[in-house]
Amino acid sequence: MKPNLTLLIILISLMGIRYVHGNENAVERGYKVLTELPVLTSDFNQSTFDQVWRSWPTHLRSSAERMSKEERTKIAYQRYGLSSRPGTTDKPLQYVVSEEGNWTMNCFTCHGGTIYGNPYPGAPNNKIALQTLTEEIRATKFRVGAALSRMDLGALVIPLGTTNGTTNAVVFGMGLMNQRDTSLNYIPTAPKFFVHHDMDAPPWWYFYKKERLYIDGFAEKGHRGLMQFMLIPENGPEFFQKHEEDFRDVYAYLMSLRPPKFEGNINRALANKGRNLFESNCSDCHGTYGKNWTYPNLRIPLEEIQTDPVRLHALSVEGRTKYAHSWFAHAGETGEQSTITAPDGYVAPPLDGIWASSPYFHNGSVPTLWGVLRPKDRPAVWIRDSDELDAKRVGTTYSSVDSVPTNNLDIGEKRSYFDTRVKGKSNQGHLYGESLSDEEVLAIIEYLKTL
Ligand code: HEC
Ligand code: HEC
Repeated sequence: MKPNLTLLIILISLMGIRYVHGNENAVERGYKVLTELPVLTSDFNQSTFDQVWRSWPTHLRSSAERMSKEERTKIAYQRYGLSSRPGTTDKPLQYVVSEEGNWTMNCFTCHGGTIYGNPYPGAPNNKIALQTLTEEIRATKFRVGAALSRMDLGALVIPLGTTNGTTNAVVFGMGLMNQRDTSLNYIPTAPKFFVHHDMDAPPWWYFYKKERLYIDGFAEKGHRGLMQFMLIPENGPEFFQKHEEDFRDVYAYLMSLRPPKFEGNINRALANKGRNLFESNCSDCHGTYGKNWTYPNLRIPLEEIQTDPVRLHALSVEGRTKYAHSWFAHAGETGEQSTITAPDGYVAPPLDGIWASSPYFHNGSVPTLWGVLRPKDRPAVWIRDSDELDAKRVGTTYSSVDSVPTNNLDIGEKRSYFDTRVKGKSNQGHLYGESLSDEEVLAIIEYLKTL
């Protein structure tokens, strides 16, 4: 009897360990799926990437010519908004690179960026230059005679993004979904007319707080919804079913993420003042923070919020209805999700780690928190100065200019200017800071650093 009891205790404790372990593993496996499992056709190979500098504008090309391969790679990473994967020096976070050297875009292309220079998986990639990368890779492939990829061809029909740090991801998704029936069978269809617009990807570190996804909150959260990105014609319905388990792990990984802590100085007395002001002016929409946090998931009608309207209408009622009836939303199955096909505005996001996810608003039009709360101080055209945090205004260090230079032949550099006068890039709306004094705004910003 006694030895059996001991055995039982050992078994139970082992099961206990296994249980915790099992959870950890899903998170680890999720990260591995994202960084190591190619789920699209490959975009280009290592040797094409190593030669991409040959397609740069003359002045960059001639300095690249004199550099070592390592230096050139560093400059290429900077030009395209790539960063090395934490814990490695030779692999990008934003692409899966196979043993054979084939590069395939992953979710971190847009959802894995740097926070003031430091790579951070799950931070929005506020530097991604997908359009420039794709154009220069395509030019390099013509030069070396390499085959064009899905991305090279797709980018000829749908622009990838007009400003570094933002992408036309939503339209890309709609274009791909347009070619599917509700069970995700591929049905070749004539391309539709879409309203192209760029968005700044949201951080993943508040995913755990959300019930519904996207800036208009139209879709319910779930692992299948995360798989939309894989809708290239090569991936049929079986592919999605086959990888469902992998995306349960990706879901677990996303749920495990938390925002980075602010590392600079925080004036605690000022932040406490800011907390009171925040709770009376902002919490109704943005929730409360700390141990017993609340998040209202509140959609604010467009007439009220008045931020850029393009995204809301660009994702059509038809497009959302298609999603509602699809495999992604578990249509016709137990656990069918609720999908809002005609939302009237944007959902106020949680502000966890907000100091680290500049620029602000869904289109990335406002570089600092000061600008969010002081509408009149928002720059019309701006360009990032450096990787430093603007400690006073909190956000991207930028220069304000009158217009995007026209005499500059480097299209890659032109795309580092953000022009809020372009359709879809407006920096208007969200006027809630206007009634506050400068001192009150500074106190709220101090508090926001603690979230
Ligand atoms: C080309 C850029 C791009 C890629 C690649 C990409 N996303 Fe996104 N993602 C976005 C943008 C932009 C949004 C905002 C869309 C919106 O709100 O309408 C978004 C939104 C999301 C959201 C909703 C977050 C929220 O808080 O509402 C999740 C979750 C997400 N993406 C997961 C993924 C996963 C998982 C992958 C890979 C399988 C992926 N994304 C690949 C650009 C991208
Ligand atoms: C009536 C609801 C409402 C109130 C009140 C409100 N906000 Fe917002 N806020 C929103 C919505 C909706 C958005 C998203 C707008 C968009 O992206 O187009 C937003 C966006 C933001 C953002 C940018 C988030 C990001 O990830 O880019 C910040 C920062 C912010 N609000 C701070 C505040 C602060 C501080 C206050 C109080 C002074 C406040 N808000 C009051 C609804 C509100």
